[in-house]
Amino acid sequence: MKVLVIYDHPRRSSFCGAVLDAFVSGMHEAGHLTEIADLRAEGFDPRLPPQDEPDWITGAKTCSPEVLSEQERVARNDALAFVFPVWWWSVPATTKGWIDRVWNYGWAYGDRKLTHQKALLLAVCASNAEQYAKRHYDSAMRTQLVQGVIDYCGIREGSLEFLHGALASEDIRQSLLRRAIELGRSF
Ligand SMILES: Cc1cc2nc3c(=O)[nH]c(=O)nc-3n(C[C@H](O)[C@H](O)[C@H](O)COP(=O)(O)O)c2cc1C
Repeated sequence: MKVLVIYDHPRRSSFCGAVLDAFVSGMHEAGHLTEIADLRAEGFDPRLPPQDEPDWITGAKTCSPEVLSEQERVARNDALAFVFPVWWWSVPATTKGWIDRVWNYGWAYGDRKLTHQKALLLAVCASNAEQYAKRHYDSAMRTQLVQGVIDYCGIREGSLEFLHGALASEDIRQSLLRRAIELGRSF
């Protein structure tokens, strides 16, 4: 499969960047082709301008050139993956704004939906699984992102995987990188 991997972190050299590398190497082992969208390095502006506001009446809209080229990048791939740090129990603002602008009405939802086979969200986070479960942050994020965005836009096979303990010991980080390779292999 051709997979667009959307990466959102201020630094490519971060731990999330190492997760991205591990995940992509696993995908290559499995024979997938990858294209990386490094939103921050590319300077993607997450603020939705008037030109990208949905046309609720017709659903037909000529979006900004920036959005049109992002839509082209999404459309030329068979599947999607997101690699990001969890910030305040959600995706960082750039990923949120990328979805706001690019997954527009009449293109990703409404009369026309996305046709990608699957989408995986790889959420790198500090807190452990028990801390997430205690306040239901895990299910809240699944409802919001997998159900409310991925499934809502027509992608049936959506999943959210947490890589817990990203600020913990080097041993834990190494095990998270091994997990990222495995998720790439089994994508
Ligand atoms: C603004 C901000 C908000 C954060 N919010 C959360 C959070 O809600 N839950 C969590 O588990 N970790 C949270 N973290 C920790 C990050 O997920 C963690 O720093 C990151 O995954 C580590 O990867 P990095 O070193 O590549 O940035 C937050 C970090 C920042 C900077």
